[in-house]
Amino acid sequence: MNPELQAGLVGRVLDHLAAGTTDMAPAERAVAAGRYLSAARYQVEQQALFRGLPLVLGEASAIANPGDFITTDDYGVPLLITRDAAGTVHALLNACTHRGSLLTTAARGCGKQAFTCPYHGWVFANDGRLRHVTHGACFPETEKDRHGLVAMPVAERHGLIWVGLEPGRPLDVARFTAEAAADLDWLELADCVAFRPFTVTCRSNWKLVVEGFVEQYHLYYAHPRVTSAYYSDAVVIDRLGPHQRLVAPRSTMASQAKVGRHRWRLRPVASIAYYLFPNTMVIAHPDHVALVRIVPVTVDSCTVHWTMLIPRAASDATWTPHWERARESHLTTFAEDVALTDGIQAGMQGGAVPDTVIGRNEWGVINCIDSIDGYLDALGQTL
Ligand code: FES
Ligand SMILES: [Fe+2]
Repeated sequence: MNPELQAGLVGRVLDHLAAGTTDMAPAERAVAAGRYLSAARYQVEQQALFRGLPLVLGEASAIANPGDFITTDDYGVPLLITRDAAGTVHALLNACTHRGSLLTTAARGCGKQAFTCPYHGWVFANDGRLRHVTHGACFPETEKDRHGLVAMPVAERHGLIWVGLEPGRPLDVARFTAEAAADLDWLELADCVAFRPFTVTCRSNWKLVVEGFVEQYHLYYAHPRVTSAYYSDAVVIDRLGPHQRLVAPRSTMASQAKVGRHRWRLRPVASIAYYLFPNTMVIAHPDHVALVRIVPVTVDSCTVHWTMLIPRAASDATWTPHWERARESHLTTFAEDVALTDGIQAGMQGGAVPDTVIGRNEWGVINCIDSIDGYLDALGQTL
């Protein structure tokens, strides 16, 4: 993000702080509980969003070197993500083409040029090619060239790994992230590494969890422990295509009012939350980034993968206590959110909450709804 844009955002925040205002939606919005309860709607979302769009699978530094790999079964699809000898990333179905066994149950590994199936010993290179068939004479019609692992669309961009979960469908991440690209590159995620990621199981629809990240309104009431670090209600919001940037000023923002505009810098004095359509948050704090992936499991449950990305240059053991404190704060704050969203889902399921209303000061939520429903509408999937 160039200095001029940073100064512009700081200026908008300072104006809000001086006036006691915040960016607001033109109107409030009624939202029926069916949005979070309907199994039919959930199926449409699965097909249109989670089989059709580029999805963030994780940070590229998780497989920094040739021979590194990670596995995941997010979205109900077992994937083996590898980096081959040439440095190219592959997203392969973690399913042997003989009888379908998982090739590996390890969550991650390194130095792996090939995977030997644990069932009957077929060997696959880390780019997916079938290298060896045991008792090959028994498979006279099986051509090795046609029995490599199924490759899913994949891209490495902005320091993140993106996948598509429909084989053969082109993945145009550059176009998908165009409006957010300069911001994402500014975060230099390729130079960051994960610090002790954690996973949380939520008993709520995935969208309720996403919506907790795109409004600041609840901070003062739900997270009293961290409110002193922020100005509560002043948020600056910009839509970046289907994505969003939400700037929440930290208490250090006031210092900017005392220095000249040419010295205004955003990152040290704000938390900048990027909503990456449809289900990823990239939240830039002054010295690290939280990558939060909200993965639907059923209509009323989701899995949240939370990864603190810290600068590689500040990742040695002397930094560990500092990052542990930040991690503890994330864990505690998110547990507060999950208790609330789990409760909302239970209330909706019991019929206690037939309708909700989103305020003008919850504009980020309205933008999320518009991004999702606008995309579904454009596909003709009217709900
Ligand atoms: S299932 Fe993999 S070798 Fe048989
Ligand atoms: Fe929250």
